Amino acid sequence: MCGIVGYVGPQSALDVVVAGLRRLEYRGYDSAGVAVLADGGMAAAKKSGKLVNLEKELVDRPLPSGSTGIGHTRWATHGGPTDANAHPHLDNAGRVAVVHNGIIENFAELRAELAGRGHGLESETDTEVVAHLLAEEFSGCADLAESMRLVCRRLEGAFTLVAVHADEPDVVVGARRNSPLVVGVGDGEAFLASDVAAFIEHTRAAVELGQDQVVELRRDGVTVTGFDGRPAEVRSYHVDWDVSAAEKGGYDYFMLKEIAEQPKAVADTLLGRIDASGSLSLDEVRIPARVLKEVDKVVVVACGTAFHAGMIAKYAIEHWTRIPCEVELASEFRYRDPILDARTLVVAISQSGETMDTLMALRHARDQGARVLAICNTNGSTIPRESDAVLYTHAGPEVAVASTKAFLTQLVACYLVALYLAQVRGTKWADEIRAVVRDLARIPGEVERVLETMEPVRELARSLAAKDTVLFLGRHVGYPVALEGALKLKELAYMHAEGFAAGELKHGPIALIEEDLPVVVVVPSPRGRSVLYDKIVSNIQEIRARGARTIVIAEEGDEAVVPYADHLIRVPVTPTLLQPLVATVPLQVFACELATARGNEVDQPRNLAKSVTVE
Ligand code: M6R
Repeated sequence: MCGIVGYVGPQSALDVVVAGLRRLEYRGYDSAGVAVLADGGMAAAKKSGKLVNLEKELVDRPLPSGSTGIGHTRWATHGGPTDANAHPHLDNAGRVAVVHNGIIENFAELRAELAGRGHGLESETDTEVVAHLLAEEFSGCADLAESMRLVCRRLEGAFTLVAVHADEPDVVVGARRNSPLVVGVGDGEAFLASDVAAFIEHTRAAVELGQDQVVELRRDGVTVTGFDGRPAEVRSYHVDWDVSAAEKGGYDYFMLKEIAEQPKAVADTLLGRIDASGSLSLDEVRIPARVLKEVDKVVVVACGTAFHAGMIAKYAIEHWTRIPCEVELASEFRYRDPILDARTLVVAISQSGETMDTLMALRHARDQGARVLAICNTNGSTIPRESDAVLYTHAGPEVAVASTKAFLTQLVACYLVALYLAQVRGTKWADEIRAVVRDLARIPGEVERVLETMEPVRELARSLAAKDTVLFLGRHVGYPVALEGALKLKELAYMHAEGFAAGELKHGPIALIEEDLPVVVVVPSPRGRSVLYDKIVSNIQEIRARGARTIVIAEEGDEAVVPYADHLIRVPVTPTLLQPLVATVPLQVFACELATARGNEVDQPRNLAKSVTVE
């Protein structure tokens, strides 16, 4: 939540910062602002609403050009999305500017203290106190990095802070605690951002910042210390994401592009997983086999779409390994005193690697002695860094707030983890594992075929634009797919959309069925467990008898469902456990088209942000 950019170097800081904010706007879009150091002073501009409002403001009232600057795109926490609450926040003298992501929990106390010393604070934010505290500390030590260290030691909560001071015109200082911040190191220039997407057009050389660290950026390099002032070890890495991957590439929305990228994302995530001996090899999973053999419980923690991936993982893990698997919303996990020990394997799934709920859940798990394996899409992010092992998905940057390609690759990673556990523990033979990997290898082609047949789905979505409610039903792995279809529709189309386990219908939700209510039903393969299939066909008949308009997702060749489907969406034949990889795709397209038909912002749905870095 909130996108932050900082720059020092030979280019126009304003241009670099605004371009970076454009790439980070998915993180929050309630307001945006910039500050540049120029002519010995500070110049700032900020505007409520999307970045485009700020860009217009900068045309109407240009800022002087300078080579050091910071910027921010906001997802509001404290104080509404007004001009006054937009970042950067300045001290009373207008010499220091600061941008912030996170929540400063003790801000009220600090604010009262500052007011007592005569500071006038103008916004309702928690951030503004930092500008004033930095100004006070700077007046004593004349060193922005030292001032930041002193201030951070007084702050409680989660924060990324980036600041500039007019008296140190070639310096940008950043700090992080429980909130993302990465450093980009260029030739005679340096960058700070919430996410590498903000600077990959300038440099691929990145530096990770650890917990409770302060970084000082100068043109000729970066210095990292702890909040206590001790030099910190710096870990550099190369960003291999393509610049074009963070651009729309001719599509109207990032979401459309990301849906279309799914075949490649799945293929990339599968790449190189079978070694020369024919065994499944997950290099990054550096938890010794002897530990994995001892695991007596798997607990998956995740949020939103990643949680749905976890729900599907449960079916695969339990079926292939016979290890009991629980799936828990990360935001609930640590509050219920879960039973964990050294034999528990916790799998934390997160696209961004920064979701605070998931991070807190994994910390709790590690505190209890459990091993944590992260499934993550973002190299260098906090969740993999704090886990015992990581399996990276190779989806490339996902910019649209609604998760699509990350979901499919999370599923692939979950299947791989389940198979790996089965291999280590001997619950599946090598040839059985290879057979599943071969089935997975066919998925990119199958997803491609689904994508080629989506026009009727788009047409159907447009025809339903005036509806208020859509329900989604599924059984077994089709149940999380139903939940995911409903989540996509809620977040994009702002419609009442609910997913149910089809067997639960008769226990209440069937009362919702009325004439012409659209109900999407995810039908499992008739070649799988026939009892499961028969039951869901009965469920379709039950809702149809009560007037529902049935939208049936069924595999090619399943003719038995035809009489009960008002609309039939075909998906390729897959093994039962892998069906979510193809059945989810039409639901993504459906939600995207319905949102477009309702005139909604597809990539930036209201009230949401891509990376949820507050609890
Ligand atoms: O980055 P994460 O995978 O940890 O994010 C988890 C959820 O916030 C995320 O999946 C969210 O539900 C998506 N916007 C859904 O499309």
